[in-house]
Amino acid sequence: MQAMDFPGAQRLIEAIDRAVQYDCPHALTDCLRDAMCRIIRNRDVELPACIFEPVADHYARRELYRSEAHGYSVIAMTWGPGQGTPIHDHDGLWCVEGVFRGALEITQYELAASEGERFRFLPVGSIQAGEGSAGSLIPPHEYHTIRNPSEDGIAVSLHIYRQAMRCCSVFQPQGDGWYLRGVRHLGLDQVH
Ligand SMILES: [Fe+2]
Repeated sequence: MQAMDFPGAQRLIEAIDRAVQYDCPHALTDCLRDAMCRIIRNRDVELPACIFEPVADHYARRELYRSEAHGYSVIAMTWGPGQGTPIHDHDGLWCVEGVFRGALEITQYELAASEGERFRFLPVGSIQAGEGSAGSLIPPHEYHTIRNPSEDGIAVSLHIYRQAMRCCSVFQPQGDGWYLRGVRHLGLDQVH
């Protein structure tokens, strides 16, 4: 796809292209995380207006760029007040996530047990990440929830995935401490 044209897009792409030269996923995602923080804090990019429009019944996922050369995908997510995710994985893909606007509550989980499609998780920490912060997620430590804790404001985050993530596992609580795994196909919302 063509790069979306917004101020700073080229700078963002160049920074990601530099980071993905690392073979080690830890070095790569550290480099990406630092670049993401710098770009957001310096206001080096100005996202298109539609990115700030929430969608009523789900958090919005809009693809800003996909690299033909490297395969990575850049997604902007828009979280209305209270919108969030169930516990989910990342289909084995590393990801770097930065908060562009507002704040997000992120809770990480470790897998504690599994029986077929039933899983148990251990919450291992929760943060509220504010504007200009970014973090990485490297499988197998890939289970988390994300939620916009605000009662009246939107949040916008930028996500860079090793490749386009088309589906992931989501885990629904069964009420007895166990979660049932399901597969969610991830759609994209229109960029306009
Ligand atoms: Fe996630």
